[in-house]
Amino acid sequence: MDKFLITGGRRLEGHVTISGAKNAALPAMAAALLTPEPVVLRNMPRVRDIGTMRSLLDELGVDSSVTHEDHGNRIEIEARQLLNPLAPYELVKQMRASVLVLGPLLARFGQAQVSLPGGCAIGARPINLHVQGLEKLGAKIRIEHGYIKAETTGLKGARFAFDTISVTGTENLMMAATLAEGETVLENAAREPEVVDLAALLNAMGASVEGAGSETIRIRGVARLHGAEHPIIPDRIETGTFLVAAAITRGHLTLEAAEPSHLSALVAKLSEAGVCVTSTAPQSGENRWGSMNAECPGALRASDVTTGEYPGFPTDMQAQYMALMTQAEGSSLISETIFENRFLHALELMRMGADIRVEGRQATVRGKTPLSGAMVQASDLRASASLVLAGLAAEGESVVDRVYHIDRGYERIEEKLSQVGASIRRVSET
Ligand code: EPU
Repeated sequence: MDKFLITGGRRLEGHVTISGAKNAALPAMAAALLTPEPVVLRNMPRVRDIGTMRSLLDELGVDSSVTHEDHGNRIEIEARQLLNPLAPYELVKQMRASVLVLGPLLARFGQAQVSLPGGCAIGARPINLHVQGLEKLGAKIRIEHGYIKAETTGLKGARFAFDTISVTGTENLMMAATLAEGETVLENAAREPEVVDLAALLNAMGASVEGAGSETIRIRGVARLHGAEHPIIPDRIETGTFLVAAAITRGHLTLEAAEPSHLSALVAKLSEAGVCVTSTAPQSGENRWGSMNAECPGALRASDVTTGEYPGFPTDMQAQYMALMTQAEGSSLISETIFENRFLHALELMRMGADIRVEGRQATVRGKTPLSGAMVQASDLRASASLVLAGLAAEGESVVDRVYHIDRGYERIEEKLSQVGASIRRVSET
């Protein structure tokens, strides 16, 4: 298992190029199942979850090929046929987003068998809403031997209101509805930029999706979809993580190929905390994304935060923000409303010297406390990022164990950080 060795206390300075968004890339790959024609995805991040999704497509009998490009990978997927409708437990347990193949398989091939994902470090994360929504579109679904077994002789458009806002739930139903007969209306839909990006891809494939980015999405079903080429949006969580890296090391970073408009809630909080973030909108022509600058000229101030669905403060930035608050003057209250168990990083941060009290879904961070390097263990993707950030700010050497979590969603984070002055190195143990 790989570890990161980090020697803290270095100020980061320079430019970092942001990769494509993992959470937009994964549903885009699943969407390719909706057509027999090639779907070409660009700006694909080079992260482990993308490899897992390719393995899943391979299991289904679907070809995909990867080409290295200047900015991200180009992945071409051609789902001419389905050899096997089964998404096995071995893959789904590695990556819950595997459930995204359920809607497309059912809509295009009339059958799907997807393992139930089971528990997760950050919360129970049921997928009951994906199942209820597909049933509303007319699918017959039973749960047997740990698998969702779904079939249909043809999905029919329907109205479905989500009890709880779900990102992948919205994506699964949106994809399924593109090939259903008639109109589907999704209410209380997720408004995340990744949902909007998926709608753009589906429309480029010939679908009729309206309203993505608002709470009501209307999809008029079509008989078939065709191939398309689509660039994936920048990863807003990777961008946010580097903004915090600049702040926590009292450095100055410029993030290229970012999309500032996707980060308003985080930028507002960072500004309250005393971090100076400026953005440059995309230039016309070649350069379709913008850039962001972060530096922290004065003292960091504590500022409370409550996570929420987009456009609220992202739960995927809560752990990194908590690391930052350990270095701010005063007391900050961090409330997690999306997942019930997403404070595992707090215990590790406390081992590095942070003063944090966790009560249920709230954590109070008292700062500023000096952090000292320690051996810490990553429990999930964003918790690992938080520990890396704390390691950059700590005095002495930290060892972050189980970095396979971070490799799931951050492209070469140690290289990107080293290039701007961090002392971080990967150690592989055989
Ligand atoms: N929920 C239900 N029933 C469902 C679906 C969701 O009760 O059928 C609940 C969940 O338990 C949770 C809440 O609804 O309490 C929101 O979960 P959501 O379904 O939105 O999460 P997700 O779609 O499984 C995506 C991201 C996560 C991100 C969340 C929230 C992808 C592939 N994953 O998960 O990303 O935290 O939305 O924004 O898009 C990450 O990248 O580290 C990550 C965990």
